[in-house]
Amino acid sequence: MRIDVLTIFPDYLAPLGLSLAGKARDKGLIDVRVHDLRDWTHDRHRTVDDTPYGGGAGMVMKPEPWGEALDAVLGDEPRDRVTVVVPTPSGQPFTQAVARELATRERLVFACGRYEGIDQRVLDEVADRAELREISLGDYVLNGGEVAALAVTEAVVRLVPGFMGNAESLVEESHEDGLLEYPVYTKPPTWRGRDVPPVLLSGDHAAIAAWRREQAERRTAERRPDLLPPSTLLEGVELRAAEPADAAELYVLQLACWVQEMHANPGVRIPALHESLDDLRSWLTRDTVVVARSAGRLVGGVRASLDGDAWEVGRLMVAPDLAGRGLGRTLLTRIEELVPPEATTYALFTGAGSSRNQRMYKKAGYRLRGEVEPGTVRMTKPVRR
Ligand code: ADE
Repeated sequence: MRIDVLTIFPDYLAPLGLSLAGKARDKGLIDVRVHDLRDWTHDRHRTVDDTPYGGGAGMVMKPEPWGEALDAVLGDEPRDRVTVVVPTPSGQPFTQAVARELATRERLVFACGRYEGIDQRVLDEVADRAELREISLGDYVLNGGEVAALAVTEAVVRLVPGFMGNAESLVEESHEDGLLEYPVYTKPPTWRGRDVPPVLLSGDHAAIAAWRREQAERRTAERRPDLLPPSTLLEGVELRAAEPADAAELYVLQLACWVQEMHANPGVRIPALHESLDDLRSWLTRDTVVVARSAGRLVGGVRASLDGDAWEVGRLMVAPDLAGRGLGRTLLTRIEELVPPEATTYALFTGAGSSRNQRMYKKAGYRLRGEVEPGTVRMTKPVRR
């Protein structure tokens, strides 16, 4: 694979000679060429930028040096042999899937912009002459594309066939199976009083694989629920409207869940712990209630009712052994979907000390509205239709 980098800071790309990319270069797998864009300027100041048409802050990179640089680097290479990568915060997010695609290309050309970006006509021309990929490292703004070019190169080069000695470690790592990687351990078996999980020392390969899968899913659900396919979240779990026959099981699950809440919020009076089975039966018939069942067992529930213009969500519960897999979030989404047309706000209460719950609600778009009574906070979110 040939990699060209066009930049006004060629020294920035020096790390390409080191570590992984350097190794790939030594093995003859990649041929990296870094070019100074200013070599294609013709004025005394080697100018590469100018003020934007239409006004506004900052400077825009001029088309002429880019045009000449791309002529030199692309030559008359056929369109389907080259991908031009333009790092920009307004590009497509860079993911392992994009890295895998780029690793199959014969040639990559990185066009590193600075300032407010490159004159759009350059990008339009590139799109006529090559595959154009505008790529963003993430939702933040760097000073230029060089760091992104380094990151993309490193992620791509290690996927080029023949590069990694141990192809298995490529398959097992984070993102390759759509999950984050499980935690890893090495010797000694006990360090500063902390033990390696015994299953890893058991020699039971099936048990080790199951443990790792479970850890990867748990981590992904906690840190990046957006990566989980719905089937992983809810494998074998069925959501449906509650029926009177669910009352007793819901009562037991509620007690189990709110005892945990009691410990997280010492001294706070928790209504769910002071209810009789008949109290629960009465809200079960009055409110909108959704329950989750897995293999016949009741593993979750949530209720909501209309109060003025608020869809008051409450009693969101998940069996403790299934916590952290996105079931709570799924129940929340389902009850939100059942919002009546009159409601303009979703609203709920949770414990001021229940930081895990609050994090989940914040991720779901709820904002803290303050402490309503000691130890209890209110959170709301506008209903968008
Ligand atoms: N250039 C400036 N910010 C960037 C980002 N977030 N990703 C890629 N290129 C960039």
